[in-house]
Amino acid sequence: MEERSRALITVRDLRKSFDDEEVLAGVSIEISEGDLVSVIGPSGCGKSTFLRCLNGLEILDSGTITIDGVTISRGSPEEKPSRAFMEATHELRKEVGIVFQGFNLFPHKTVLENVMLAPVVVQGARPERAEAEALHLLGKVGLEGYAHRYPVTLSGGQAQRAAIARALAMSPKVMLYDEPTSALDPELVGEVLQVMKDLDGEGMTQVIVTHEMRFAREASDYVVFMDRGEIVEVADGDEMFTAPRNERTRDFLRHLVGVLP
Ligand SMILES: Nc1ncnc2c1ncn2[C@@H]1O[C@H](COP(=O)(O)OP(=O)(O)OP(=O)(O)O)[C@@H](O)[C@H]1O
Ligand SMILES: [Mg+2]
Repeated sequence: MEERSRALITVRDLRKSFDDEEVLAGVSIEISEGDLVSVIGPSGCGKSTFLRCLNGLEILDSGTITIDGVTISRGSPEEKPSRAFMEATHELRKEVGIVFQGFNLFPHKTVLENVMLAPVVVQGARPERAEAEALHLLGKVGLEGYAHRYPVTLSGGQAQRAAIARALAMSPKVMLYDEPTSALDPELVGEVLQVMKDLDGEGMTQVIVTHEMRFAREASDYVVFMDRGEIVEVADGDEMFTAPRNERTRDFLRHLVGVLP
């Protein structure tokens, strides 16, 4: 019998409100090691907030998140985050790399310096060691030869690949991407998606919020459809895009995305 990969990410009843608006209304999911998961859903449904909670950029109101044995848990928004909670959040951030839509490279540093920075400053890596690792990672994302360039001289696709290399430099257990290709010209989208496919081939666990429905369908192990702060449906790509079970999923794919007749 084929051995099932263990759950690397477990989320239980995750809730988050801003002011009076409940943005995550009880999200639960298990993601196995090595999975590539695409998250789709209408604007404002909570996709970015979900990712931000997963790496501790946003503090959950209640629920439990476990990533590779590190757990953050909170009973209610009234519960003051304990010291242990904050320490676990800090731990989580180290395990989880995140890449956003805009390229958040430091403009006054070279590509190499961008990739080396966190290992040296946060992890205390020796500069020679960090440089060797950074050059290796730049090779992996197809940017050998670009190490000494400044971000402003890169194309959008190159900058986004540099941002991925920078996130990988912290040796994360999980990579999260929030619409990583939305700001790119169409001809540059493929080179960024290819990096995610390559990482998938190496067994990286990845969660991608995306509008690239074709990538979601073809490259992901499964697709998550979110709506109004909930996970409405989880299905493999073919099922999600040809025969979704939930009426809300069908509505979204039909009216907003136009992939269903
Ligand atoms: N820091 C914040 N303060 C107040 N409201 C917020 C904050 N962040 C998000 N929201 C609100 O939470 C809701 C969900 O936002 P979120 O960014 O998670 O949606 P999304 O699914 O990523 O949308 P999009 O597809 O447009 O990126 C929105 O109504 C948004 O206005
Ligand atoms: Mg968003």
